[in-house]
Amino acid sequence: MNVPNHVAIIMDGNGRWATKRGLKRSAGHLEGSKTLEKLAIHAYDMGVKVLSVYAFSTDNFKRDPEEVEYLMNLLVKYFNTKFEKIIKRGVKIVISGRKTNLREDVLEAINNIEAKTKANQNGILNICFNYGGQEEIIDGALKLAKDINSGLDITNFKREDFYKYLYHELPPIDLLIRTGGEERVSNFMLYQMSYSEFYFTNTYFPDFDKSEFNKALFMFENRDRRFGGLHDIQTK
Ligand code: IPE
Ligand code: IPE
Ligand code: MG
Repeated sequence: MNVPNHVAIIMDGNGRWATKRGLKRSAGHLEGSKTLEKLAIHAYDMGVKVLSVYAFSTDNFKRDPEEVEYLMNLLVKYFNTKFEKIIKRGVKIVISGRKTNLREDVLEAINNIEAKTKANQNGILNICFNYGGQEEIIDGALKLAKDINSGLDITNFKREDFYKYLYHELPPIDLLIRTGGEERVSNFMLYQMSYSEFYFTNTYFPDFDKSEFNKALFMFENRDRRFGGLHDIQTK
């Protein structure tokens, strides 16, 4: 099977999952976090090396303060007490996003989990938190500008060279999944998704289980990726 090396998921639909059941939106976020734990293990079992997930966007601060607070608390709780299975599996956890506007305990939880899993080599889980794709490109461009000021020679600077200026140097995204029915990217990893295959599903994220994930993998296997080129047969 041709398994994507880097899968990214826009984990959408938690709120609607809960509302449909007469529950508070927070119940959907809690259920979504449980889904993520199971899904991540499954993805690595299937051969995925890097899994990126969109957990909180810079624009999500526009939401009700109560919901924002719930999501912050959930992250702290998860980083401090959960994710054991993922860590035991040897997965390295990295967090992408701006460190501004975050509470002290949130920053501490982020630093702890990154430090704890730093040497792990059996896969990467990239959690995008207080993350924006345009912000990541701007922040990267500012770092590059600093290097240029310090004398970096950019005569032959290529698009591949920019990856190291992003929050973490990750490979390009092969497969991008968005759950919850919307067909948009909502400022997710814009630089890394230039040649991603997209998979949209109406399934709300809490219901996005292993078999739903496998459907996306099967779809990926049948996509014809050309990267702007042509296959031999078409050039003859
Ligand atoms: C995605 O689910 C998770 C976050 C944005 C934190 P939503 O909270 O956007 O759920 P819906 O889209 O309102 O159903
Ligand atoms: C994208 O979902 C962000 C996350 C999944 C964390 P949103 O629900 O915030 O995106 P929009 O508002 O539908 O574009
Ligand atoms: Mg949403």
